[in-house]
Amino acid sequence: MNAKAVKEVLKAHVGRAYAPYSGFPVVALVEAEGEVFLGVNVENASFPLSQCAERNAVAAMVLAGKRRLERVHVYSPKGPIPPCGGCRQVLMEFGGPEVEVVLHGPEEEVRTTLGALLPLAFRL
Ligand code: THU
Repeated sequence: MNAKAVKEVLKAHVGRAYAPYSGFPVVALVEAEGEVFLGVNVENASFPLSQCAERNAVAAMVLAGKRRLERVHVYSPKGPIPPCGGCRQVLMEFGGPEVEVVLHGPEEEVRTTLGALLPLAFRL
């Protein structure tokens, strides 16, 4: 999927995030084995049960039978935000340090890698 199309898909799904408590919607799109999978954050009245967008996208990928993460996109309408620590570990489970991570704002992008975000990762 080209960069412009990715941005359009991310923006088109921001309204699907369920973030009534934080007011901070996030959309994640993961590219894996030639397909793309989406996730949004889903919050809960019991705050710790809230799920991040990235982990929900990974769940969709695994359900579809894909496990080789190639690229990760994260979108926040407030500007580029990096994944939380827990999501970095979950992404590393299905990728490696070379996986590209693109942090999107409405117009701008910041490119990094999973290895830069999670050096010395614990892996089995
Ligand atoms: N959140 C994500 O979905 N992904 C991130 O990378 C960082 C934070 C969510 C969790 C919570 O629903 C809201 O953003 C505010 O922390």
